[in-house]
Amino acid sequence: MPASHVTNGHMGDTSKCVLVTGGAGYIGSHTTVELVNAGYSPVVVDNLCNSSFECIRRVEEITGQKIPFYKVDLLDKPALEEVFQKHCFEYVVHFAGLKAVGESCQVPLRYFRNNLECTMTLLEVMQSHGVHNIVFSSSATVYGDPQYLPLDELHPAGDCTNPYGRTKYFIEEILSDMVKADKNLNAIVLRYFNPVGAHKSGKMGEDPHGPPNNLMPFVAQVAVGRRAELSVFGNDYNTPDGTGVRDYIHVIDLSLGHVAALKKLDDKCGYKVYNLGTGKGQSVLEMVEAFKKATGVTIPYKICDRRAGDIASMYADPTLARDELKWTAKRDLQEMCEDLWRWQSMNPEGFGGSDSEQKSSDTESGKESILGKHENNNVATPETATAQV
Ligand code: NAD
Ligand code: UD1
Repeated sequence: MPASHVTNGHMGDTSKCVLVTGGAGYIGSHTTVELVNAGYSPVVVDNLCNSSFECIRRVEEITGQKIPFYKVDLLDKPALEEVFQKHCFEYVVHFAGLKAVGESCQVPLRYFRNNLECTMTLLEVMQSHGVHNIVFSSSATVYGDPQYLPLDELHPAGDCTNPYGRTKYFIEEILSDMVKADKNLNAIVLRYFNPVGAHKSGKMGEDPHGPPNNLMPFVAQVAVGRRAELSVFGNDYNTPDGTGVRDYIHVIDLSLGHVAALKKLDDKCGYKVYNLGTGKGQSVLEMVEAFKKATGVTIPYKICDRRAGDIASMYADPTLARDELKWTAKRDLQEMCEDLWRWQSMNPEGFGGSDSEQKSSDTESGKESILGKHENNNVATPETATAQV
């Protein structure tokens, strides 16, 4: 290792260093905790466009470890290069991206620019620094309207119903082509089903900006009194109770799927695609009932029209991940709902406030120093970038 390289900011640290892009976001932050628990050394890069530095501070509180953090936009290649100069990464877990389906229909170019260019820049920088292992956050949305259920990885992909989904599909294709061209590169695509829940401590969870698009964050905000009632989008689908059926997976199980994927990369696996889901489908009304059972809170709801672009049912066949990654989802609906409710009731306003930059620039000196530093230079040193716990 060159003398200038540090692993997780610490000279002599021999644990395997992982770059987590988008690590201040919902899934990235939970995965960062599980990476630490599994003995890896995560380094986070995020531009905080949909997250806050407070989340990194909570990761440090939970793990008792300093997490090197860089407020860097992945579109900024020189800044990213600098991060790669400072750390000797063995793996990259690539969460960074924009993810709002509705918004992607209104401003598709923003989604293509951000999600595709981020990934291409990242791959170029990885290539120039000899980093050969990447895990990519894809989505079950790449399957489009299911031709059969459960969805296995052989189901046709690419017939997406929105630009967001297409960015995921295009990135999968880019990674597949890259692996064909470079025998040293290993890329694992993880197609997530519907992540819900939060860290057991109640310190970390999903903190959507504005009204939540997804079901369970909306349910939690109704429960905590931030929203009056849930709108159930259609009860005339061809499902047992007429409401939409999805495969909800606890965010910790999902995070552990990434740890399993890193181990698979050690086998020099080339290009691989895995579903991360439970294999079970639950309807909207079943989720409302499960939330009540777990928390005692009744969710008022009204039945509304179907949401444009929605499908009736989708759930995973998770067999391939079980067989090849030795991973299965273990946490049940009760635990998903209890953990979601603990997070939401302990943090009714999420990480606090609706503006992510504002959230990141309050009084703590660690936060001030990172944001202040980035006004002049997109890359902070790990020392100044790391929150003090
Ligand atoms: P999130 O918005 O909470 O996290 C994404 C993070 O990426 C945010 O912190 C954001 O600030 C950061 N980011 C975005 N553009 C960036 C850029 N140009 N440079 C640096 N950072 C940037 O979302 P999440 O729910 O944690 O999702 C993580 C990944 O998983 C995303 O790629 C998403 O598309 C994918 N995914 C999510 C779900 C879901 O239901 N949450 C389902 C399937 C796939
Ligand atoms: C959405 C995205 C999908 C993404 C996934 C996980 C759309 C069209 N699709 O899928 O691309 O991969 O999230 O992030 O947005 N529901 C209500 N009321 C609500 C919210 C949702 O009834 O207020 C219903 C929906 O109609 C659906 C179910 O709840 O039947 C789940 O919805 P949601 O959480 O948005 O996830 P997906 O539709 O699976």
